[in-house]
Amino acid sequence: MTTTEPLIEVEDVGKTYGSVIALRDVSTVVNPGEVTCVLGDNGAGKSTLIKILAGVHQHDSGTFSFEGRPARFASPREALDAGIATVYQDLAVVPLMSVWRNFFLGSEPRITWGPFAMLDRRRGRTVAREALAEMGIDLRDVEQPVGTLSGGERQCVAIARAVHFGAKVLILDEPTAALGVKQAGVVLRYVAQARDRGLGVVLITHNPHHAYPVGNRFLLLKRGRSLGSYEKSKITLAELTQQMAGGAELEALEHELRAAQT
Ligand SMILES: Nc1ncnc2c1ncn2[C@@H]1O[C@H](COP(=O)(O)OP(=O)(O)OP(=O)(O)O)[C@@H](O)[C@H]1O
Ligand SMILES: [Mg+2]
Repeated sequence: MTTTEPLIEVEDVGKTYGSVIALRDVSTVVNPGEVTCVLGDNGAGKSTLIKILAGVHQHDSGTFSFEGRPARFASPREALDAGIATVYQDLAVVPLMSVWRNFFLGSEPRITWGPFAMLDRRRGRTVAREALAEMGIDLRDVEQPVGTLSGGERQCVAIARAVHFGAKVLILDEPTAALGVKQAGVVLRYVAQARDRGLGVVLITHNPHHAYPVGNRFLLLKRGRSLGSYEKSKITLAELTQQMAGGAELEALEHELRAAQT
């Protein structure tokens, strides 16, 4: 689709924790304006991969390039400064903090007055409300505590924050895992919006039905190894589901469960 250079390119990347091989020979790309989905069962290495991209861990084999240059981020702060924003599943939000303060998390607008600096609450509230509205998130009151938002709304605030602060890459670790069908749909709509604004999105999920509608590329992991990185035109939803479930294993399980019922 696009001929622009990838934002992120990983090639044969690997990572071990002591004697545990968490990731081995994994390759994929993240293009601007596209969603790369990372799928795999528990322990497949999904979080390990995104922690490398996000500067939490460093890879110990293969290459990782960001905007065409070899990258090795020493900390999440470094990755964020380079333009890679990560939303973790257990969102680092302070439940009692207001939505707008949480939106800024340390970069609130301030009024300076001689040597003094004061929070510019009015401006903060307005900017947060507008940024959220621009993404179609309509919150009654940005002064309400983040803890009163639903899980889906919190994910949406985190996505809007990354977009507002100019992230180039947005990484989401299982944003829909704990959500019902309707809320998952809402979060996926914001994922699509971030994509349409030109961000490269990395979406981690267990669920092929969440990945397929928004994804451009699907990286399948199993026990730390890659089962392939497919462009959407190269794989159907049925094949994706089959690959994820381990095909024959699922059929056997279905048979077993049906038999047990009667
Ligand atoms: N800090 C760590 N120290 C040792 N082993 C680890 C560490 N983090 C992950 N592992 C191991 O690496 C492997 C991959 O873990 P990872 O968290 O990347 O999987 P995942 O695909 O994100 O799984 P889940 O779907 O359960 O979140 C697992 O076997 C896990 O036990
Ligand atoms: Mg994980």
